Amino acid sequence: MDSIIHNFHKMSVEERREIIREFSNLSVEDMKVMDYRMDLDTASNMIENVYTIMDYPVGIATNFRVNGKEYMIPMSIEEPSVIAACSNGARYARPDGFIAYSTGSFMRGEIELYDVPDPNKAIIKIMQNKEKILEMANTRSKTLSSMEKGAKSIEIHFVNNELIINIIIDVADAMGANIINTMLEYVSGYIEELTDSRANLRIMSNLTTERITYAYAKFDGKMLGPETVDRIVRASEFAKNDIYRATTHNKGIMNGIDAVLLATMNDFRAQEANSHAYASIGGYKPLTDYQKDKEGNLIGSIKVPVAVGTVGGATKTSKKAMLAMKIMGIDNSSEFSNILACVGLAQNFAALRALAAEGIQQGHMKLHARNIAIAAGASGKLIDTVASEMISKQSISYTYALELVKKFTGE
Ligand code: MEV
Repeated sequence: MDSIIHNFHKMSVEERREIIREFSNLSVEDMKVMDYRMDLDTASNMIENVYTIMDYPVGIATNFRVNGKEYMIPMSIEEPSVIAACSNGARYARPDGFIAYSTGSFMRGEIELYDVPDPNKAIIKIMQNKEKILEMANTRSKTLSSMEKGAKSIEIHFVNNELIINIIIDVADAMGANIINTMLEYVSGYIEELTDSRANLRIMSNLTTERITYAYAKFDGKMLGPETVDRIVRASEFAKNDIYRATTHNKGIMNGIDAVLLATMNDFRAQEANSHAYASIGGYKPLTDYQKDKEGNLIGSIKVPVAVGTVGGATKTSKKAMLAMKIMGIDNSSEFSNILACVGLAQNFAALRALAAEGIQQGHMKLHARNIAIAAGASGKLIDTVASEMISKQSISYTYALELVKKFTGE
């Protein structure tokens, strides 16, 4: 089944669920999870001082085809327009869809050595015992060792008069934070002994320059029109040369990536830090690039470090996050990274398209007005009636919405 679903946005929640069930071959048990609420006990075991559980809406982005496979993509976000824009962005990349590639799962852990009496001797000592350090680290994960993954190499650099030991670890399908930190803490005592110095921090780095994802799409020039193609290329140059614009441009990319990370209960802060730090290497730049090809199509690409896992992590604690993974049908970390990069590219393209063509406020205000109408107590058809009235009077406010709800319901 392909992921182009006509009028998906106009369907009822039940109709949408039925399509998702069919698309992802969900079981009766899976369907029940859609109405499941995490209980306070589970929540209290996850974090501290729990008093309630937050409600974030979760929607589905349609139209995605990545490396020849169709995807429906769960996204959780409080901002209207994002999911509609993302789906719309993916539609322009059809029929070919996106292609994407992830480089693998090498991560970096850092040990900060201070009070190093003889740093140049210390470097040699560490390098002479490199194999032993790596072997020691690898005793911490039987799983990684059995897959011939795990700690692979050591890099050392100076920061002022401290020695920073980086251990490069292939974490396979994990995000890797826990195993990296465990390995670092385990080997740091031996490194202290070898170098007669002291270890301060022992922590993974959230900048994953060895775990990069590339994605590419050809956005249809005929659908866009030549003027919009040119304006998007122009906007891309603007972002390359203006940090204020680049920040907003990348924020738009993260709208999509974070929403998928939230729906799958992954650490979106780690990904935010990763993306922005990477964008700032050599001066803050946009993570995407756009060019026009000879046929007038818009060629979009993204290069972004993505560190996500499909094993371990909080996903397993949440039935809904597990269901989101099942809906996407993802089974390894590279595939997941590919999807995230494609969502980021589609999201960014959709924002640029709207900004370069009609502007985003028109669509955005419509959804915003609907939200205000709902907050003021409108339901069913009344939501659109109240929203349209507010837009036509150019007065979108909660007080006015309350007034209109009263007027239309006669209450
Ligand atoms: C809003 O959340 C995101 C945008 O500002 C992104 C952009 O300007 O590219 C629309």
